[in-house]
Amino acid sequence: MKKRALGPQGLTVSAEGLGCMGMSAFYGAFDDAESTATLQRALDLGVTFLDTADAYGPHTNERLVGRVLADRRDEVVLATKFGNELDHEGTRTGQVNGRPEYVRKSVDGSLQRLGLDVIDLYYQHRVDPDTPVEETFGVLGELVAEGKVRYLGISEASPDTIRRAHSTSPLTAVQTEYSLFTRDVEDDGVLAAVRELGIGFVPYSPLGRGFLSGKIRSIDDFESDDFRRSSPRFQGENFARNLEVLDRVVAIAESKGVTPSQLALAWVLAQGEDVVPIPGTRRTANLEENVAAVDIELTADELAAIEEAAPAGAAAGERYAPQGMRTLNH
Ligand SMILES: NC(=O)c1ccc[n+]([C@@H]2O[C@H](COP(=O)([O-])OP(=O)(O)OC[C@H]3O[C@@H](n4cnc5c(N)ncnc54)[C@H](OP(=O)(O)O)[C@@H]3O)[C@@H](O)[C@H]2O)c1
Repeated sequence: MKKRALGPQGLTVSAEGLGCMGMSAFYGAFDDAESTATLQRALDLGVTFLDTADAYGPHTNERLVGRVLADRRDEVVLATKFGNELDHEGTRTGQVNGRPEYVRKSVDGSLQRLGLDVIDLYYQHRVDPDTPVEETFGVLGELVAEGKVRYLGISEASPDTIRRAHSTSPLTAVQTEYSLFTRDVEDDGVLAAVRELGIGFVPYSPLGRGFLSGKIRSIDDFESDDFRRSSPRFQGENFARNLEVLDRVVAIAESKGVTPSQLALAWVLAQGEDVVPIPGTRRTANLEENVAAVDIELTADELAAIEEAAPAGAAAGERYAPQGMRTLNH
């Protein structure tokens, strides 16, 4: 497995990570035994960058990953997140909390559930509009000094917030949605800011939440409790327009002899050596398909054809319903 440097402090990770969220939340039924096998296979293949969060489950995804880490801790760069507020019973409140006392409580909970002494990469999952980011990253800097956390990150933050966080306690990674289906970071200043500051960039949902696999053709392909049913991208006219974009991408994949998922991942990987996507899957077969994308090179002509097929802004519909859009930091 190829490796990539993430951020300016010397952290190195596999060029593709594994997103673990769907193993415990949001995308319909899951099976811990199947997810455990997928996690083990990922490590066998050299995928060493695992992405979880306290809010996935909540809590159950960290416990699942922790069980795998119990025997293989040294192979893994483990990333988790805090900030989508959980109450004392572990239920999501719908608020975002970046207050220092909440950060301290969260890190101790994650360490305990993961069974770790130190978290490799700790992200603020969403920016708290009511707590200055300097306060949040002040306490995060203390946690690094205390040895509870190695590296710091932030998710879905504006360029200004990224700069303020980074100047308080240096960032290693910024995580934001980025795929052929969601290209906002190219022109909202986020990619420009991380590049100027030397921070690594971790695209989440690099398969467009599974859409770019070409396997999702109707809202009925989602189970009744699947979060994607509420996404504007998968509603009515938006869905129909997005399928037109998708079909052009699928045609390019077919002509290259790769799967649509592989083409989508190869495209993200081609955006720069500072980019480390974290596709999510519960299934070993999909994992193996996705991992093979690391070795797929796209020529300049192929990149131009993809650009023409799926230019920035081609996707119809917001990427979250209004409640989710409100938690994004602009
Ligand atoms: N920071 C944030 O706010 C945030 C938000 C969302 C996600 N994330 C992180 O990013 C990770 C990845 O994002 P994501 O899971 O939302 O979206 P994604 O990686 O774009 O897509 C995942 C979906 O694609 C399917 N899939 C994966 N590989 C496939 C393949 N080869 N063929 C067909 N289907 C395939 C998966 O289903 P199967 O499981 O059935 O394979 C799953 O439904 C998450 O796991 C999470 O760790 C972070």
